Amino acid sequence: MRIGVIGAGMIGATLGSIWIRSGHEVRFGTRHPERVKIRDGLSQTVAEAVSWAEVLLLAVPLGATPDVAATAGTALMGKIVLDATNPFAQREPEAAREIEAAGTGSGQWVAQQLPGAVVVKAFNTVYFQQLRNTTGTGPNAPGIPLASDNEAALNLAAQLVRDAGF
Ligand SMILES: NC(=O)c1ccc[n+]([C@@H]2O[C@H](COP(=O)([O-])OP(=O)(O)OC[C@H]3O[C@@H](n4cnc5c(N)ncnc54)[C@H](OP(=O)(O)O)[C@@H]3O)[C@@H](O)[C@H]2O)c1
Repeated sequence: MRIGVIGAGMIGATLGSIWIRSGHEVRFGTRHPERVKIRDGLSQTVAEAVSWAEVLLLAVPLGATPDVAATAGTALMGKIVLDATNPFAQREPEAAREIEAAGTGSGQWVAQQLPGAVVVKAFNTVYFQQLRNTTGTGPNAPGIPLASDNEAALNLAAQLVRDAGF
């Protein structure tokens, strides 16, 4: 599957690398493709990665979501987006306050920012080092909670969770 990872930081680089090892095609959409070198040829602009991908992982600071939406534009239409973001008040007090005031939870807030996309909350609950240090599937692999209104998207997300070994 073609997976576009938006944000090549701790969570994005970790999960993208895991999916590459499991046989998926991955591109990293970043603001600085020339600087982000996870592997040669894998870094693109956000717009390129969104257009290329069949499914996306949103792995940017939560407050950057509207910027990602503006950059990606209509390429987001119909795409499944695994949303790993969190309203982390110490890091992004303004975005966290906005979501708290909205009263919807961050998953619905992100879905509102990405009209036309199908959002699944995923991979937001486990520290990246734990994902990185997990070897093999089995009873000790972390469970990944998923949430979405779309059953087909949930099933796809669950498959990508299993493919990643969780
Ligand atoms: N770290 C974890 O263990 C963990 C676990 C679960 C969930 N999360 C959540 O995952 C999200 C990412 O966290 P992280 O720890 O991976 O952060 P991080 O290491 O700082 O990485 C964030 C990435 O987003 C990129 N970015 C920022 N603004 C952007 C924009 N407007 N357009 C495109 N890319 C942009 C940054 O790239 P540049 O600034 O270089 O462009 C950076 O590569 C957060 O919402 C966090 O709450 C993190």
